[in-house]
Amino acid sequence: MDNIWSDCKGDLEEVEQHIKKSLDSEVAIITTVAHHILNGGGKRIRPLLLILSARLCAYTGGSHIALAGIVEFIHTATLLHDDVIDNEKIRRGISAARVLWGNRESILVGDYLYTLAMCQAVMMENIEVNYLLSATCRKMTEGETLQLVHNNNLELTEANYFQIIEYKTASLISACCRLGGIIAGAPDVEKNALTRFGQNLGLAFQVADDTLDYVADRKRLGKSLGKDLKEGKITLPLLHLLQNCNEKEKKSLKEIILGRKFFQKDLAYVIGLMEKHGSTHYALAQAKTFVNRAKEESSLFKDSRHRQALEAVADYVIRRDH
Ligand code: IPE
Ligand code: IPE
Ligand code: MG
Ligand code: MG
Repeated sequence: MDNIWSDCKGDLEEVEQHIKKSLDSEVAIITTVAHHILNGGGKRIRPLLLILSARLCAYTGGSHIALAGIVEFIHTATLLHDDVIDNEKIRRGISAARVLWGNRESILVGDYLYTLAMCQAVMMENIEVNYLLSATCRKMTEGETLQLVHNNNLELTEANYFQIIEYKTASLISACCRLGGIIAGAPDVEKNALTRFGQNLGLAFQVADDTLDYVADRKRLGKSLGKDLKEGKITLPLLHLLQNCNEKEKKSLKEIILGRKFFQKDLAYVIGLMEKHGSTHYALAQAKTFVNRAKEESSLFKDSRHRQALEAVADYVIRRDH
């Protein structure tokens, strides 16, 4: 991965400059909050995927920089909103914007970043790009809403879970990959392969995130641990545990998930059960299956440095610790 980041360093630095330059609202608090979260040290995995996909399709123009900024604005907007929905206190290793400025401010700055992204996208005058970005935002909203509807639903199925993560997370990651193909003028068959590559990578990415929520080193992760359990979010490791534990364990799990109070000892208990029943191992094995499917899609392209880089990113999303 280090080689890939350094290979794309020039482009990624331009993306950073583009992001900084774009944040110039006359309403000072908007610029302050937007800078706070955007300087918080996100991985920039979506811009990276867009740049690599464009390179894979031999793109030689310059629109990938602004477009990579646009997808990062959309992603950051969803984080501002998501932290309000999830009652999160830490984001990217620093206090979440909602803690420093408030929920209302976070929602509004999230809206600002979404609409900033849309204004910049419109100026590109590319209907295919614009339609994909708009349709993706719609999907992500559906995903987060669906997740909310299923909060505390102990009857949640794997199919429900995968639909939620496909919509809320994989849709944007998939769009980033397709966008690289679109701006390069790639044929449909290549754009479709990139779409499915990104979709599988995105599913693996969220399953890994949901596993890290239980097993990560908090400092490295830059977010709180156990927050999915605390918020009643049934993600893949918990779903596996609910389906594989004994009746007595299930009863205590139900009490923890549906209980009004949440204690650190509850998290330790659930993590212990997950170890006993192999639940995080199961989730990571599922994530690995998605990575393999992603690579089947990228194999449509002839072997190249860029294809290898994309495949290395696919491996990275399940190996990462933050
Ligand atoms: C966090 O995304 C939200 C999810 C979809 C899990 P990232 O893990 O890409 O967050 P940053 O941008 O690196 O902070
Ligand atoms: C958020 O998923 C996905 C989005 C599209 C915002 P999570 O709620 O798991 O993301 P984190 O863990 O807060 O980053
Ligand atoms: Mg969240
Ligand atoms: Mg999470």
